[in-house]
Amino acid sequence: MPDLTLQPLSILVLHGPNLNLLGQREPGIYGSFTLAEINHLLEAEGLKLQAKVFPVQSNHEGVLVDTIHQALGKHQGILINAGAYTHTSVALRDAIAGVSLPTVEVHLSNIYRREEFRHHSYIAPIAIGQISGFGVQSYVLGLQALVHHLRD
Ligand code: DQA
Repeated sequence: MPDLTLQPLSILVLHGPNLNLLGQREPGIYGSFTLAEINHLLEAEGLKLQAKVFPVQSNHEGVLVDTIHQALGKHQGILINAGAYTHTSVALRDAIAGVSLPTVEVHLSNIYRREEFRHHSYIAPIAIGQISGFGVQSYVLGLQALVHHLRD
């Protein structure tokens, strides 16, 4: 018998630097969806999955680190597009490892088809997995993967 009494989940969605510019920022690479539109898509997908999403965007590494710390006891998982901090931030990686919350890393663009400095992610080794290159669908697929992981 399928379990019809699913516990609602709470998911922190973290957007890193420059993602507030989505819609106008290099649309040939990142598409034309704004961050608000992506958050709406995730809220709608969350409804289907019985998961409430809490989006936060910051251009500041320390704010992202603080937000990850505050997720403990509040959220069951993290969906993160760390933007350029993906490739530079040991602090973000340590914060995620420190709270030990299941995390899925997403990117709009396929970081492995781009400049070499984007090929390395500090977050990937401590994430459940990474989805890269599917535009806004990377976020939707990432949310689905995270929720399925948490419910397994
Ligand atoms: C990005 C890829 C990063 O390399 C870049 O710095 C970003 C966006 C993506 O979603 O494709 O800001 O994370």
